[in-house]
Amino acid sequence: MKMENPAPIQWQFAQRAQQLESSAIRDILKVTVRPEVISFAGGLPSPATFPVERMRAAYDAVLSKQGKVALQYGPSDGYAPLREWIADSLSAGGAKIVPAQVLMVSGSQQGLDLLGKVLVDEGSKVLVETPSYLGALQAFSVYRPQFVSVATDGHGLLPEQVAAIGQGARLLYALPNFQNPTGRTLPLERRAALVETCARLGLPLIEDDPYGALSYRSEPLPKMLTMNPGGVIHMGSFSKVLTPGIRLGYLVAPLPLAAKLEQAKQAADLHTAQLTQMVVHEVVKDGFLDTHIPTIRKLYADQCQVMLDALAEFFPASASWTKPEGGMFIWVTLPSHIDSMKLLDEAIADHVAFVPGAPFYANAPERNTLRLSFVTVPPEKIREGVARLGKLIRAKI
Ligand SMILES: Cc1ncc(COP(=O)(O)O)c(C=O)c1O
Repeated sequence: MKMENPAPIQWQFAQRAQQLESSAIRDILKVTVRPEVISFAGGLPSPATFPVERMRAAYDAVLSKQGKVALQYGPSDGYAPLREWIADSLSAGGAKIVPAQVLMVSGSQQGLDLLGKVLVDEGSKVLVETPSYLGALQAFSVYRPQFVSVATDGHGLLPEQVAAIGQGARLLYALPNFQNPTGRTLPLERRAALVETCARLGLPLIEDDPYGALSYRSEPLPKMLTMNPGGVIHMGSFSKVLTPGIRLGYLVAPLPLAAKLEQAKQAADLHTAQLTQMVVHEVVKDGFLDTHIPTIRKLYADQCQVMLDALAEFFPASASWTKPEGGMFIWVTLPSHIDSMKLLDEAIADHVAFVPGAPFYANAPERNTLRLSFVTVPPEKIREGVARLGKLIRAKI
């Protein structure tokens, strides 16, 4: 029987929930789904790259051959053959990675949450890049750390800055390949210096690497994991090389930490869907990614070039931008008097969208920055959208 006029509850949220805010990007995306808007705002991979038929065939194969196993509960650390495949692929980089180091997670975003849960206390010092991946700042902020922004330049983190401020920190969160949001890449010698510095400080180094395979030209640079598997926690994802809707990623951690992360995973959701993991194993086990990834690289490289050409044509000389060697993002720095948050209102009125740079900073936002994604917009629309933005910016100079 339904209760008559129940008194409304005065919700008392936990302190950690009071820290939570909706992601600025997700809020912007709500506006930009309108078809007339040319949106450079999303961080979504191009659906043109999703191997739908291959996935359908793999679902069919798994369900018809191993349906009862696929639909049952599974182990918390993940589906063993897929963990072995990941360990073997990473071992090709030179260092021996064992399956016991690999924990399957429901998107690498969950990996960030588990790392926060296991490594961060309230007030713990957490080192992040300037700027950094917004989703990581969001995930860690639930655990109420003190974020310390490490200075960077056009090539990413400066190892000497980590050495100067890293003492006593709980972790360093680093994005070496085609960083979200800037698109920049950490050079080889800095990777080595960073690994060495973190090892000396006893500082866990998190290497978040969802874009590493999406290098346009050369082979990707060596992973920091391979330089010190006992001190680096590597995060990988199938979101950008297969499809994000399956929510499948992995953490590779030194053994004592891997065991603790597995306990946190168990507490969070028991395990990641067994069916999904089996399907992905079915898709990747015979080398499918070796032929599939080059098609993604080619598409993204071409679209990146279209956007770089359009920026050179339509943006004023007083603006600058990164020239990514892979991945999905270009980072623009406008003249210092232009606030990109305000520019966004005008841009949306003009049916073009981007993500303002400020939310990507843990401290001291640089408000004259913005992120552009070029992978989901067709070339002719990229030109048109950049031309519209360029006109708005030029009017402010
Ligand atoms: C740097 C970075 N890390 C993690 C993620 C989360 O990816 P996943 O889909 O694996 O949860 C993203 C998603 O865009 C990302 O850009």
